[in-house]
Amino acid sequence: TQLKPYNSFRTEALAKIFCEPTDIKQLRQCLSDYPLETKLILGGGCNLFFTKNFEGLVIKPTMLGIREISDESDDSEHVFLEVMGSEDWDSLVEYCVDKGYAGLENLSYIPGTVGASPVQNIGAYGAEVKDCIHEVVALNMETLEVVSFSNAECEFAYRDSIFKKQDNYIIISVVFLLNRSYTYTPKYADLNKELEEIAEPTIREVRDAVIRIRQRKLPNEKELPNCGSFFKNPYITEQVAESISKEYPDLPLYPLPNGLIKTSAAFLIDRAGYKGKQIGQIGTYPKQALIIVNYGSTDGNDIVFFMKEIQQAVADKFNIDLEPEVRIL
Ligand code: EPU
Repeated sequence: TQLKPYNSFRTEALAKIFCEPTDIKQLRQCLSDYPLETKLILGGGCNLFFTKNFEGLVIKPTMLGIREISDESDDSEHVFLEVMGSEDWDSLVEYCVDKGYAGLENLSYIPGTVGASPVQNIGAYGAEVKDCIHEVVALNMETLEVVSFSNAECEFAYRDSIFKKQDNYIIISVVFLLNRSYTYTPKYADLNKELEEIAEPTIREVRDAVIRIRQRKLPNEKELPNCGSFFKNPYITEQVAESISKEYPDLPLYPLPNGLIKTSAAFLIDRAGYKGKQIGQIGTYPKQALIIVNYGSTDGNDIVFFMKEIQQAVADKFNIDLEPEVRIL
């Protein structure tokens, strides 16, 4: 099976075996029919690309459904939603905003599936999905048992979770804990600015604002293949931050509780001269330096080559190592 349609960078690679289970029974069947060591679970394919054929089992589940779990007390402020992994992420956000369930609105317009959202703990505009996840229901691909991970057991961190480190689970569904009431809390400069004219933004207004910002800054993967942010925003020490800020006083700095400082990969790539730069058919997006875009290559190695050029340029100029956020297979 050709995997080009299943990764948003549109790189070519063949899968040895490809399964599309529509329920847990078929999923278990597929795992026992093809007991291959190497496996890959595909969501929307928006955060990975291929550099070679995949010599293993590729599973692309289509398990759909949204179920409202009512709370013990009817007048509860909270609502629990169990959402199957293959539901489209942004359609879920729209569903919640429509019903007035608050929590996911800052994460509007992110491509991909619900099942992929906890894996890298998707985040944007000061929110992370971990803040709304009650539990994650997953299938252990060795024992074929269904297990449930509490929020704490998911070991969420910035663009990280247990599911990124341990790959023998396939996410079946995610249980979200959302609020019936909402007050906007300013967290992210770009979003505050977009909402400055509205006194008390509703979740609908916040969703619309996020969509406007993202449409302005980020390329649509269907028109211009990409995987969103290519690198993680790096953590640096106070000394490093101070020395770079001398030359670049506008360097964005977000101090963390552990004493380190998160800075902006986009800023560093931009100042290293790589904003809008193109080598062959691969380049950075002219409006956002952190996004690598593919202008027509089918070979993932071209992306890797360009990635290394950026890493080298940023290391030479700032002595900071950029780590990819995207999965390279
Ligand atoms: N900047 C530049 N040059 C650029 C772009 C940005 O200098 O070309 C600087 C600006 O100072 C800007 C700052 O970088 O204020 C931050 O830029 P932006 O608000 O676009 O956010 P980001 O840090 O680059 C992160 C996430 C995005 C998320 C946005 C909004 C990561 C790796 N990326 O990007 O997530 O949408 O914040 O919250 O944390 C993704 O993960 O795929 C993704 C798009």
